[in-house]
Amino acid sequence: MHNIYLIGFMGAGKSTIGKRLSEYMNRPFIDLDETIERGVGSSISEIFAEQGESCFRDMETAYLRDVSESHDQVVATGGGIIERPENSEIISNTGQSVFLKLGWKDLIARLEQSEHRPLASMKDGWASTKRLFDRRQPLYAMADHVVDAQNLTIDEIVEIIVNRVA
Ligand code: S3P
Repeated sequence: MHNIYLIGFMGAGKSTIGKRLSEYMNRPFIDLDETIERGVGSSISEIFAEQGESCFRDMETAYLRDVSESHDQVVATGGGIIERPENSEIISNTGQSVFLKLGWKDLIARLEQSEHRPLASMKDGWASTKRLFDRRQPLYAMADHVVDAQNLTIDEIVEIIVNRVA
């Protein structure tokens, strides 16, 4: 299906890079979280608060499966997409995955600015978010392409991805 799936932790820039990449490659852009929010009619925070994370994960897999049936798209996924082996299987069967890799310090600086992420919480001094970050690194690293996004501009990252997926 030749889709390009951007994966990585919250704050890595998957949506921003994905949008620019899709314009550059002249492909449709899908933001999976936004697609879920539109489809369900609630924000991700509302889904987490009212229905719980496991229900959100079920929706995420269902929407990913649906999106994966179309071709040649750039898809920005949510940071937890690698939580379910089933999702990784859908991704590897329908395209290539690109891990946008950023260090904890850079990510946390961005997450401090955002308020809409239920799993990015400073309540415990970011301890649980850091544990999530550490646990997920080996899962993200299984991507087809790992792009070290540290100290690079959006356009530089896009250029690297275009060359890798060619
Ligand atoms: C999540 C990341 C979020 C969103 C949800 C869960 C996660 O997406 O899917 O809040 O488990 O890391 P972003 O990575 O776009 O913030």
